[in-house]
Amino acid sequence: MKQQPTKVAVLFSGRGSNLKTLAEHMAQANVPAELTLALSNRPKAGGLDYCARQGIAHQAIDHKLFESRESFDAELDATLRAAKIELVCCAGFMRLLSAGFVEAWRDRIINIHPSLLPKYKGLHTHARAIEAGDSVHGCSVHYMRPEMDEGPVIVQKQVPIMPEDTPDTLAERVLQQEHIAYPEALDAVLKKMASPA
Ligand code: GRF
Repeated sequence: MKQQPTKVAVLFSGRGSNLKTLAEHMAQANVPAELTLALSNRPKAGGLDYCARQGIAHQAIDHKLFESRESFDAELDATLRAAKIELVCCAGFMRLLSAGFVEAWRDRIINIHPSLLPKYKGLHTHARAIEAGDSVHGCSVHYMRPEMDEGPVIVQKQVPIMPEDTPDTLAERVLQQEHIAYPEALDAVLKKMASPA
């Protein structure tokens, strides 16, 4: 039995490959964290099927059913608090969170972004890196701040951009690194939470 593992929630919107990587990482006996809840804002997200197959507690909170960003975020906040979540990992969570929500979870909410931040905040990062003629690209795991894709970087991984790359081939190369970066970042954050400076 793990001793008082940190209760982690993963927020996601789609296929959930980063969710799967994090779930597998937390299932290891030497990682002092448990995936307490996986939450999607899209009821049809593929990651929910994965959770059902694996017996991971999961829930969809459909943002379309809420009148405002703030009311959705309030429901998210209440759900996380009811589950006694201590750390939130956004993994392909394609929804902006309100400043109030992010501040309430400050330093207890992290995100993965498919670029070498501060480059290419926002969408279509792979196409933008190719168009710019960059020779390297990559991913970043960072603490979230109210401004989109802002916040202290925890881990970054680089990949080369090949002359023949399309956004899809580059995305695939970056995704492989995302699956290395996120567990590393989680370990670093857990360590920091256990002994804050
Ligand atoms: C990842 O590339 C993530 O960085 C981006 O969305 C993608 C989600 O992939 N924001 P998955 O759902 O984790 O497979």
